[in-house]
Amino acid sequence: MSTLYRYGVWFAKGMREYTKGGYEKAKGGFKSLEGCKVDGRSYMITGANSGIGKEVALAIAKHGGTVHIVCRNETRGEEALNDIKTQSKNEDVYLHILDISQPTKVYEFIDRFQKENKPLNVLINNAGCMTNKRTVNSDDLEVNFATNTLGTYILTTGFIDYLKNYEQPQVITVTSGGMLLVKLDYNDLQFEHMKPFDGAMAYSHNKRQQVVMTDYWSKTHKEIQFTTMHPGWADTPAVQTSMADFHKKMEGRLRSPEEGADTLVWLSLSPNARNKERSGEFYQDRVAVKKHLPLAWTQNNESDEKQLMEKLKEIAGNIKSKI
Ligand SMILES: NC(=O)c1ccc[n+]([C@@H]2O[C@H](COP(=O)([O-])OP(=O)(O)OC[C@H]3O[C@@H](n4cnc5c(N)ncnc54)[C@H](OP(=O)(O)O)[C@@H]3O)[C@@H](O)[C@H]2O)c1
Repeated sequence: MSTLYRYGVWFAKGMREYTKGGYEKAKGGFKSLEGCKVDGRSYMITGANSGIGKEVALAIAKHGGTVHIVCRNETRGEEALNDIKTQSKNEDVYLHILDISQPTKVYEFIDRFQKENKPLNVLINNAGCMTNKRTVNSDDLEVNFATNTLGTYILTTGFIDYLKNYEQPQVITVTSGGMLLVKLDYNDLQFEHMKPFDGAMAYSHNKRQQVVMTDYWSKTHKEIQFTTMHPGWADTPAVQTSMADFHKKMEGRLRSPEEGADTLVWLSLSPNARNKERSGEFYQDRVAVKKHLPLAWTQNNESDEKQLMEKLKEIAGNIKSKI
């Protein structure tokens, strides 16, 4: 299937399923989450000051969970913290300032959190970005890769053993249906050879890498339920700023942030969604769906999966060894 044909099939699917209309159709079968109490469960959510991350943090707080929101900007983080506490009337909400694209800071954060013995049942990797101009950060890492792939890798591997100490541990990663457009690429993780650089394509690769990492962890750490999900197309600051043309074109057809967060909220709250025997699945509108488009030739094998994990281990290990 050519890239153009793959994109056409994907976009048609998106118009049917990822839009507000798609959500309206899907939600007919949804059960109310009203009675799902999560008192005593502790959640960490990255990028929780806006959009989907803030919606899930608020829903969990409303249902009695302890919530650790991880945000990179102090002002935006404080605002979200106060808002979540006020709306949920739950005081068990805590703010941590962290830029997940800075590996050294991520390692320090993991260490601090664990030394304080704070309980943690669920890690939600939600923070994400689409930077349209190739940008390298102070650690010499391309920013999309550093945030979406390496940030998710370091945070998750840093918490895997810790999570096993707590009841029914889960790792949920907010990926994107955009990953359906690409086959795993582990040879150009920082897009040095992507000419011209294409932010949307880089993002799709990062999101595919998140799904492949999740596949790997689901097989190697059976005590934890690993899940990925696609929110659909939701009207959030990331879409408004990084995909301005798409945002304009889709006016009136995008999901609200709350609708985009629905499946993430369900995965976080519902006892029906909590099942480590179903680890590694990719969800859309509360249903486990395929990770590849038909005839798209995007499948990878286990050896590709291992290669990706080895490369990430090497990059992360080199950084860690200098701390
Ligand atoms: N909205 C959609 O249609 C859609 C579709 C598919 C997938 N997604 C995924 O959904 C997730 C949430 O995005 P959203 O749409 O809800 O957009 P959003 O409201 O802009 O949220 C993105 C969050 O990630 C944070 N973030 C970005 N880079 C970070 C970093 N280096 N360190 C820490 N936090 C960082 C942002 O913080 P700042 O406020 O400081 O920027 C913000 O809180 C992302 O993973 C995105 O890829 C969204």
